[in-house]
Amino acid sequence: MMKKAKKTSEAILKVEGKEVVLPVICGTEGEKAVDISTLRKSTGLITIDPGFANTANCCSQITYIDGEKGILRYRGIPITELAAKVSFVDVAYLLVHGTLPTESERIDFSNLLNYNSLLHEDMRHFFDHFPKGAHPMHILSTMVNAMAAFYPTVDVTTTARNIERSCARVISIVRTIAAFAYKKSIGEPIVYPRHDLSYCANFLNMMFDSPVKPYRISPEAVRLLNVLFIIHADHEQNCSTTAVRAIGSAQANLYSTIAAGVSALSGPLHGGANQAVIEQLRMIQADGDVAKFIRKAKDKNDPFRLMGFGHRVYKTYDPRAEIVRKECENYLAASGINDPLLDIAHRIEDIARQDSYFVDRGLYPNVDFYTGILYRAMGIPENMFTVMFALARLPGWVAHWREMIGDETKIVRPRQIYTGRTLSEVSAEVADFEPPALII
Ligand code: ACO
Repeated sequence: MMKKAKKTSEAILKVEGKEVVLPVICGTEGEKAVDISTLRKSTGLITIDPGFANTANCCSQITYIDGEKGILRYRGIPITELAAKVSFVDVAYLLVHGTLPTESERIDFSNLLNYNSLLHEDMRHFFDHFPKGAHPMHILSTMVNAMAAFYPTVDVTTTARNIERSCARVISIVRTIAAFAYKKSIGEPIVYPRHDLSYCANFLNMMFDSPVKPYRISPEAVRLLNVLFIIHADHEQNCSTTAVRAIGSAQANLYSTIAAGVSALSGPLHGGANQAVIEQLRMIQADGDVAKFIRKAKDKNDPFRLMGFGHRVYKTYDPRAEIVRKECENYLAASGINDPLLDIAHRIEDIARQDSYFVDRGLYPNVDFYTGILYRAMGIPENMFTVMFALARLPGWVAHWREMIGDETKIVRPRQIYTGRTLSEVSAEVADFEPPALII
């Protein structure tokens, strides 16, 4: 059961001649919220907050973000420490279980991931029936949803042991599905996961090994992938995690719930931005006029937005973007890669950081701004960028799902303010309506 936030003070709301006292609760890092859960009962009123920009859906012990100061911590541990010191599997354990694993817990968790890495053989044939050119994110969400038909049901009523196993299964298999989808898309035979390889090495091997050219696993690529996966592993109540919590609150199966997260992540305003950034940088490169695109981004009559810029929560430099930018510059330099897109990205960032439009609105590079350039350098194809994000986010989604089912959560069911036609406005239309002679 979740530790509840403490009540620290009260807010008084004066509305339509009534005065209502509402508790103010405070989290462990001092974040405050007016608790309006009794508002409708006591006043008949609801609140409206499009995009939930000012609304907390839950209390959570998983991730802490301070968007003004650029702080991101998983289970209390700063992201910079995690990226520098531990593996992605350790971070997955941390998110799901609350603490970093001991040596024996790490071995048990790694074994659980390994023993559940194989995709049900009958599901393999599904890949044959997606059209050529299908986006791997669509394949991924379909396949994850289909897992519900192949594996035992996992929902709020499932026993703890099965939950443990199913969570490991979904974290592990998604990696296998992603690599299979890629191999199918390029017409190469699939490569099965291996128990002797670590999580990230296994993924790289499934992506790049071939019967004619065995893949030499590069320790630097494995390290980088660990860092990239760690920084993407959770981000509290973002769009896809909110989708996971919403679908999960209906007590849907774990696999359908995670598939909803994958679908939400595919959007270009969310995880799809990493692919959109590269496409945009390439367009700017072809045009050659960086300043023109900065002007377009600032023009309110132009729908153009700088992809990889801005964030709902961060109003300063995204700490994840800072890590990726450094890794990207170091990796490209060490590999002797001269990517002109990196130069364009630097120029955009330099201009934006001097421009009051971006500075006043707190628009800085977000995590997606430099990841695409780094993935490209690592040989990851562009249509797999968002899939990489999904693999990394799996432990976060699973952690939130587990927290939610253990927390007597109410079904997510917001209200609305109806602004459609009234009964008096439609009464004549209904009275005059001539029904067809035959209703088919
Ligand atoms: N380029 C130009 N202007 C922008 C941008 C941008 N990328 N992002 C925000 N703005 C402007 C808006 O036009 C708005 O200006 P206004 O106040 O004059 O109307 C102001 O900044 C605030 O923007 P909102 O859209 O209200 O911010 P919101 O929190 O709703 O959106 C979002 C955040 C979706 C990330 C937005 O910044 C965006 O579209 N960025 C580009 C897409 C992107 O990179 N998404 C990845 C986000 S990170 C992630 O999901 C992993």
